[in-house]
Amino acid sequence: MSQAASPETRVVVAYHSGYGHTAVLAEAVGRGAGKAAAQVDLVAVDTITEDQWSLLDTADAVIFGTPTYMGGASAGFHAFAEASSGRYLRGTWADKIAAGFTNSASKSGDKLNTLNFLAAFAAQHHMIWVGLGLAPGWNALQAGESDLNRLGFWVGAGAQTPQDGGVETVHEADIATAEHLGARVAAQAAALAAGHAALATA
Ligand SMILES: Cc1cc2nc3c(=O)[nH]c(=O)nc-3n(C[C@H](O)[C@H](O)[C@H](O)COP(=O)(O)O)c2cc1C
Repeated sequence: MSQAASPETRVVVAYHSGYGHTAVLAEAVGRGAGKAAAQVDLVAVDTITEDQWSLLDTADAVIFGTPTYMGGASAGFHAFAEASSGRYLRGTWADKIAAGFTNSASKSGDKLNTLNFLAAFAAQHHMIWVGLGLAPGWNALQAGESDLNRLGFWVGAGAQTPQDGGVETVHEADIATAEHLGARVAAQAAALAAGHAALATA
């Protein structure tokens, strides 16, 4: 599958990070989308401005990211989600591409609950959810910790960082997996936009 977007494809990474680890992944997601030729903006949702809300409103795709806190999305992300309810009512984000990622200290840590919440949040906004699109890694005799998707998620990207580690301990395989997600979303957003353009002229 092509991983190329177009310079007109606009992707926003909307994330919360309490202690900086999820921010490292947000940057990786953005880097992946950028390598796929999309224009990328990163928005820290706990300090979101009116101009940044507008970036989300006009994007082709929004990739949501949050740490997993207490088995779900962080309070900072939930505040943003609740603040988006006016846009839910107006359908502002309807039919945009969406995807998600999360990070936590434990290998599982109940991250799937967080990813499922992000997918439900996107569905409430009538967005089009794009999963990770990678086979699970690190699950066979010849597999290893440096595999892409080493924690074996499908709904989105799941990363694990030791609870006592600094931001430099975010795992390289998780960073590469996050880059993959960004590139995949950029490519899907470009394909959708091209399809709409073709239909408009058919
Ligand atoms: C309030 C709180 C709750 C947490 N709950 C979980 C959890 O449910 N599962 C888990 O594996 N890690 C949990 N953690 C660990 C964080 O997910 C982990 O440290 C993560 O890297 C933090 O990301 P951040 O630096 O972007 O905030 C929790 C941390 C905090 C502060």
